[in-house]
Amino acid sequence: MTVVVAGGGLIGLAVAWRAATRGLSVTVVDDAPGDGASRAAAGMLAPLTEAAYGEEALRALSRESLARYPGFLADLGGTVALRTAGTVEVGFDADDMAALDRLHAYYVESGLPVERLTAGQARRREPALSPRVRGALHAPTDHSIEPRALHAALLTAAVDAGVEIVRSRIAALAVTDDRATGVVLSSGAVLGGDTVVLALGAWSGALPGTPPLPVRPVKGQILRLRGGDGLLAGTIRALVRGRHVYLVPSADDRLVVGATSEELGFDATVTAGAVHDLLRDAIEVVPEVAELELVETLARWRPGTPDNAPLLGPSPLPGLVLATGHHRNGVLLTPATADAIADLLTEGTLPAYAAPFTMDGRFR
Ligand code: GLY
Repeated sequence: MTVVVAGGGLIGLAVAWRAATRGLSVTVVDDAPGDGASRAAAGMLAPLTEAAYGEEALRALSRESLARYPGFLADLGGTVALRTAGTVEVGFDADDMAALDRLHAYYVESGLPVERLTAGQARRREPALSPRVRGALHAPTDHSIEPRALHAALLTAAVDAGVEIVRSRIAALAVTDDRATGVVLSSGAVLGGDTVVLALGAWSGALPGTPPLPVRPVKGQILRLRGGDGLLAGTIRALVRGRHVYLVPSADDRLVVGATSEELGFDATVTAGAVHDLLRDAIEVVPEVAELELVETLARWRPGTPDNAPLLGPSPLPGLVLATGHHRNGVLLTPATADAIADLLTEGTLPAYAAPFTMDGRFR
């Protein structure tokens, strides 16, 4: 079977790599692999602290994917490591503390691993936290990874496994007799395949030829700062008088501060207001952030869906398989998505853990 993967971000490359290692002939098409949401992602692997109330199915998929990460990284050659210090979520005023209390009760009722920390306990765990922090939660299993390092490793592994990378913009899906038969490149040439895997992230809902898909761009602006090596052990999430901010340390002496969430379509503007708000809140949470060098600001688009969960597996168009709509959890859901789609391509069925995420009946 020949497979064309439309999109060379983390999801597309991981699917291609896993499919190629199972003997399939795979081509990935992308004009700038890894320059979409994968480039902006902070790399939180956070089934607890990223999921909202009621997102139990998504949390189960997220936990499944997190459990797959160690094996996935070992198969990749062990060059990319998880940061396993967990996540501390802090609050500043009485309303923030009430919100953390509600979250804590909800996690405990759901049987999820979480502990309540006093401000002192939080600062002993993360000494750089502001003395103004009033209290915290600790999610010991919410880890992180460096998405850019992961993308580079996946690209190498995919090529080593025989995946061909075609650096071209995709103009449309090729459809013949009501079946996806490949992709039309910007040159007009058609790259044919028995199956097309749609992994175009936020652009998945906008590719001519695809059936209507409920995927929309959700803009996120993010900052990278240099010089904070050792400042934080793990991820810090904060409610700063009701505003959300997160700080994720990475091994290359960067601290990632994110992120806005804006319904502005494919607007790529980095705004002064967003940079100001993110820095103000990050400095409030960790005062030493003010001393770091601001080295990058970036806006990209999450592939949002109506229920915040991905679209996996068969689509309404024969020959077209979906691996998209990962919204805020693309990095986390990469291993589970890759394995599920590789199962579908080689065995004809999705594993049970992925079955709730097909399009069937979800959006009526
Ligand atoms: N997962 C973090 C974000 O989407 O901002």
